[in-house]
Amino acid sequence: MVPAKGKVICAGLGPGDPELMSVKSWRALKSAKHVAYFRKEGRQGQARTLVDGLLAEGVIEHAIEYPVTTEIHFSDPEYNRILAAFYDRWADTLAQIAQSEDVVVLCEGDPFLYGSYMHLYTRLQGRVAQEIIPGITGMSGCWTVSGQPITWGDEVLTVALATLSEDELTRRIRDTDALVVMKIGRNLPKLRRALESAGRLQDAWLVERGTMPGQTVQKLTEVTGEVPYFSIVLVTDRGAGHDKRHRSRLGENCRPWPRQRGHGDGPGAGGHRRSHGYCRLYPLCETHPRTPWPDPACDG
Ligand SMILES: C[S@@+](CC[C@H](N)C(=O)[O-])C[C@H]1O[C@@H](n2cnc3c(N)ncnc32)[C@H](O)[C@@H]1O
Repeated sequence: MVPAKGKVICAGLGPGDPELMSVKSWRALKSAKHVAYFRKEGRQGQARTLVDGLLAEGVIEHAIEYPVTTEIHFSDPEYNRILAAFYDRWADTLAQIAQSEDVVVLCEGDPFLYGSYMHLYTRLQGRVAQEIIPGITGMSGCWTVSGQPITWGDEVLTVALATLSEDELTRRIRDTDALVVMKIGRNLPKLRRALESAGRLQDAWLVERGTMPGQTVQKLTEVTGEVPYFSIVLVTDRGAGHDKRHRSRLGENCRPWPRQRGHGDGPGAGGHRRSHGYCRLYPLCETHPRTPWPDPACDG
């Protein structure tokens, strides 16, 4: 067999703002002669939208149109059969193009985080060379625009899909400190109930179209109606989980902050005092348990 001259490159494009794409992905795009991207029939597709104006003149575009999205439930064997055949066909097509030239497959966020490309990746292994360019994930874009750090100290972060059953969601929410929930869509009522049962509904935020035009950040309790496909729910306990473990480990050294000398005098101290019973400067607290100054960046 003649070895292929090209390879299949999957370029992670980041969460939405084109400026959040890596230089490596950008370089791959600029020189690409073939570009492929997933999309729903009749739509441009988010990944393709992200590269508007960046592709070389004369580039050959390959729209990989899903044969089904939500018309058949994913638990139906027919759904799996149709999609498996679809991925087989597209793996053949990409392998064929790579015989002579590189082809760049576009991927919103990071390819290896719930990315459709993974279905092609496994099918192409051993057939043709592949290169995966990682991207900033959608969740990372979303927690950044929410203005709330997602995890502190040794907290556990759980990433779940809202397609899980209500019981499973509730269990996962109860078990974690911080939470990201993706693929919300029609599952929003179920997710709300699970958050409520786990006692975390009041801590939940919804970010729609994070870093994209039309971005919104709202408390989940204030959201009415349906949410777009690009929506993420974030729950952070602002360090409370770590706080509990940290205090039991450090005992007296991690005191309620008002008793720490100097706290309350510095910038940001007012907010700190009002909302936090304990010093939340975990890394500093751990290394310098008697740190005398609250972090000016503390969001209080
Ligand atoms: C199939 S997953 C793809 C994830 C992607 N590979 C990544 O790294 O973020 C699609 C889900 O990611 C979430 N998502 C991705 N980017 C987002 C963004 N910019 N704003 C809100 N949600 C986003 C949504 O929950 C959406 O339903």
